[in-house]
Amino acid sequence: MLCYINYKRINKPLNIPNLEVEIGFGRGDFIVKLAKENPEKNFFGIELSQISVEKLIKRVEKENLKNIYCTCIDAYWGFFLLFKDNYIENIYMNYPDPWFKKRHRKRRLTTPERLYIFAKKLKLRGEIRIRSDNYEFIEFTKESAEGLECFEIEEGILVIKEPITKYENKWLSMGRTLYKLILRKFKEPKFIPHPTLEEVVELFPVKVKAKKLKIKDLENKEFKLDEEVYFKTFKIWQREESYLVESLLSERGYLQKFFIQIKKKDNGYVIDVSPYSEALRTKNLQKSINKVTEIISGS
Ligand SMILES: C[S@@+](CC[C@H](N)C(=O)[O-])C[C@H]1O[C@@H](n2cnc3c(N)ncnc32)[C@H](O)[C@@H]1O
Repeated sequence: MLCYINYKRINKPLNIPNLEVEIGFGRGDFIVKLAKENPEKNFFGIELSQISVEKLIKRVEKENLKNIYCTCIDAYWGFFLLFKDNYIENIYMNYPDPWFKKRHRKRRLTTPERLYIFAKKLKLRGEIRIRSDNYEFIEFTKESAEGLECFEIEEGILVIKEPITKYENKWLSMGRTLYKLILRKFKEPKFIPHPTLEEVVELFPVKVKAKKLKIKDLENKEFKLDEEVYFKTFKIWQREESYLVESLLSERGYLQKFFIQIKKKDNGYVIDVSPYSEALRTKNLQKSINKVTEIISGS
């Protein structure tokens, strides 16, 4: 299997034995060190930054490492989509929140919903190992963890001889105190409501028999498809009698940009996601195709 996992294309859940996950690996120093020191295990890095992912892939190829995988996605959705329950041995988060602000509360990696998903995918006795330079973040994480009633919590000051990651280096050189927090799963987490996505095996193009389309009704519009599910259209490009619609789908916080194509065929049109767009096939993506059809055919 290749180092880069295209979560939109592969069969899920993943089946990689002895798997540990690092969330937000940045330059990749930590995950590479772990992989080299533990060749019998596999490591999966999840990052939001495309640049970090590209750098890690290059490094893995250069150093010929066979036990590192990664993907580019928000950690919550990465865990939700890729892993079975009770599957991951340990999870690592190093300095995940360098500019800790109250107004960013909902975006933090250790909100109750995110910790809930991480806990579900973690094996019993598995650990979430967190390093941070910010005690407020540690307190916030402990509060989320306590609410789930599934972790033994251990905390302390981190004593470091050799800094591993960029941020560890940075905070140590600034003389900051570093903290560690270990959340050890001893039972299943208490259920809390959390965002979900529903994937489908296949998307179905829709055919309309129409001579004239109401294309103008589709440009720069927003539609509510379901609770917390919004479909937006932007610019529309025309080529002869076919169209490409720039689109955005927001499903409970999972965002994807893609093009919908409206292609002239025989005595009508076929509406589908453009083959040049890579999109996660969800139920709401199908609803977006259906919505476009409804608008342009005026039905
Ligand atoms: C401050 S950096 C720390 C990087 C590295 N762990 C280190 O210690 O140098 C935080 C990293 O987490 C990533 N990140 C933040 N939120 C994330 C999320 N929701 N899912 C995945 N990665 C995330 C950022 O892109 C960034 O690379």
